[in-house]
Parts: sequence; C-alpha cells; structure tokens
Amino acid sequence: MPVPTAPAAPITTAKLSVIEQSKRLAAYTAVDQHILPKHKVIGIGSGSTVPYVVERIVQQGEELNKGRVFVPTGFQSKELIVESKLSLGDVDQFPTIDVTIDGADEVDSELNCIKGGGACHLREKVLAEAAETFVLVADYRKNVQYLGTNFPGVPIEVVPFAYAKVLQNLHHRLGSPNATLRMAKAKAGPVVSDNGNFIIDAPFSLEAMKDPFTLMARIKMLTGVVEVGLFCHMAQAAYFGNQDGSVTVKSRLEGEVIEE
Ligand code: 5RP
Repeated sequence: MPVPTAPAAPITTAKLSVIEQSKRLAAYTAVDQHILPKHKVIGIGSGSTVPYVVERIVQQGEELNKGRVFVPTGFQSKELIVESKLSLGDVDQFPTIDVTIDGADEVDSELNCIKGGGACHLREKVLAEAAETFVLVADYRKNVQYLGTNFPGVPIEVVPFAYAKVLQNLHHRLGSPNATLRMAKAKAGPVVSDNGNFIIDAPFSLEAMKDPFTLMARIKMLTGVVEVGLFCHMAQAAYFGNQDGSVTVKSRLEGEVIEE
C-alpha cells in the first residue's frame, strides 16, 4: 500500500515531469531515512534518479558532508560528486561502505532487481556488496512483482574477446534467442562500459525470470561473462515515487519483504 508523504522543498526550480517528480520523491525519502549523521562513507549509484539523491544529500548541509566521503559507481556519479563539491573516495580505500543508494531498472516483490540499463552494473554490484545497507530508488514504473515484466532484457557485461561466444551460448544453451550486443546511438559501435567491456541485453521467459538467482548463476558460469545485471538478495529497501505524490516502500524485516 502506498504511504502518503510530505514532499520536501526541492532546490530544482524548473517544472519537472511526473516521472521526474516520482524519482525525486523516492530519492529524497530514501536519503532522509537512510543517510544519517553517523554515516561517513556513502556509495553513490548511477542513472537518472541518482542526481536527486545527491541533491538531497547536499541539502543536509556542508557541516555534515565535510566529514563524509562519497564513493562513485562510475564516471557519471564521479562527476556528480565532484560537481556537488563532495569528497570523492574510491572503493579500494573504502571497501566497507555505510550506505549505498542506487537506481534500478526493475525491482521484484523479493527486492531482487535488474540493473545495468546504464552499463554500470559491475561497479554497482561491487558497491552494493560493500555496503552495510543497500537501498534502491526508482519511479513507480520499476515496481513489479516479477523481474522482466516491463524491462526488456538482462544486461550482461562481457569481455570483448568473448562476446560472440557468449551470445551463441545465450541463444542456444540458456534460452535467450533474442540476446543482442548493445550498440551505441547512431550505430557508432558497441557500448563500452567504464571497465572497457561490452554489454549484451538478454531477454528471458517470465518463467526463467521468476528464479533470478538460478538464472544469474547460470549466466555467470559462461566463460567471458564479467557480471550479470541481476542483483539477488542484496537490497534492504526500495523506494518508489508514485504519480499521486506518495511513496511505496519495500523493505526487509526479519527476512520477510514488506510493502507499504
Ligand atoms: C545503470 C543502472 C541504473 O541505476 C538503472 O538503469 C536505473 O536508472 P534510472 O534511474 O535512470 O532509471 O543500473 O547501470
């Protein structure tokens, strides 16, 4: 059940679309509930919802933020941290993170999610795993019962040398005949991740997507696969901004996922 919340005063003055407002609402609520004064090392994810996370953190004030370090998941979030005049850290200096907040392409009723729409899921998974608390933020379109309901395919990062073989295995052995190599806009060649790898988008049947952990393990076994954009049993909470200005929260309580 969506819970009504009072949206905080935004610093963005331009009129936002309903979807952008929903993203901002989710991000602001998640920051208010999870980025506490005691948190000193904070992971910042990627995508179009995350700028609102940073916007809200900046609103917490210089005093609080000068004692903190922010670890990015990629080029985009690194720029965001630097532009917002927050201190930049790296995961090799801070392998334990207090809280990571990130976007998601879809989140199911068990808090499993698809990530990698922006080709950043390898680093995002490292920061999710490093975090004591991993929190997702998204607009209402991403809140689903089963993964694959709306989002077309599972993003898979592969080493360039192996991409054709991985595609062949996905087509013929893993039940994804329409898996394709992700191409840059204007057919400028394959999309290349921050790690210098290629991305394959692999659609699977809804049946296969109902067991994301098994699917993830099967894909990861393919030689040449670096990381799969299925995040299973990693998030403690997910916040979805709704069209009516409320926020739906999915959170884990004693192992059970509750939605309110
Ligand atoms: C990038 C991601 C993003 O977090 C995901 O695509 C969600 O992005 P957005 O907030 O723009 O919907 O996984 O690899």
